[in-house]
Amino acid sequence: MIDAGVPRTRGAFLRWATNRLAAAGLDEPGREAWRVLSPGTGAAPSFLMRPTEEIPPAERKDLVRRVDRRVDREPLAYIRGRSEFMSLEFYVDRRVLIPRPETEILVEAVLERAGDVPAGAAVDLGTGSGIIAISLALQLRDRPFYATDISTDVLALAGRNVYRYGLQDRVHLRMGDLTRALPPGTPVAILVANPPYIPSDELNGLQPEVSRWEPSAALDGGRDGLAIVRRILAEANPLLIPGALMALELGAEQAPAVAEAFWAAGFVAVTTIPDLAGIPRVVLGRRPGEVEA
Ligand SMILES: C[S@@+](CC[C@H](N)C(=O)[O-])C[C@H]1O[C@@H](n2cnc3c(N)ncnc32)[C@H](O)[C@@H]1O
Repeated sequence: MIDAGVPRTRGAFLRWATNRLAAAGLDEPGREAWRVLSPGTGAAPSFLMRPTEEIPPAERKDLVRRVDRRVDREPLAYIRGRSEFMSLEFYVDRRVLIPRPETEILVEAVLERAGDVPAGAAVDLGTGSGIIAISLALQLRDRPFYATDISTDVLALAGRNVYRYGLQDRVHLRMGDLTRALPPGTPVAILVANPPYIPSDELNGLQPEVSRWEPSAALDGGRDGLAIVRRILAEANPLLIPGALMALELGAEQAPAVAEAFWAAGFVAVTTIPDLAGIPRVVLGRRPGEVEA
């Protein structure tokens, strides 16, 4: 049953939601309320245009539930069940990391360089919602893709996104621990990953939307944050064909050390790319062969 104190009209409901979100300590509660009340990614104009209109009971119940979830610091993307990445909409929920703008830098960097990468499979290790594999596969139409994850729950959601974009014949979902998910002997021409890279003891200090709601398997990179990155470097190397491209997204301050590790592992043309704040966040390198440094 809905609390008797919950307003019945749209204008009053918007004010009530704003006040609840302000009391929960959210920045910009008016903007948050507006977004929480929008069923999709669009605005909720009826709350301003028809402030005296009574909200039908079923809609009101649903709206109260949405406000409650946001008061509990659940991220808006999970409440909506969708998020945007590379100007595409993807299904998301608590099983997967919410797409981040930094990851668009990774995808764009790969697209810029993919033209001279030899033929062969592209692999997205730790695919989560599938955003990297799908946005690359929509552009690089001649390659098979493997999108892997350690979790079948995660892959179930990634599969919804793969179907949404009609890529089920070309983006193969594989469950397993990093490269063990790949069919044995797969020659890999492009390998990308946005691995978990937060140092374990920093997880609790993250904002509640992240630490309480996003899956720790998507965040926890071990003691120094680089446990999975080191494994990717070691495991991927033998699978990559000459001229192959590897690209990893990293946490702030991790990129210089990882670029060194790329050189030490025999990669050439190693490059780091900064995010919009100027912090190096993506490291790319090529296997020697058709491309020389
Ligand atoms: C940071 S999230 C990235 C998700 C998605 N690629 C993105 O950019 O939004 C890391 C993903 O790696 C997966 N993962 C963690 N450890 C893994 C492992 N050992 N092998 C495969 N996937 C792993 C997690 O389940 C999670 O989906």
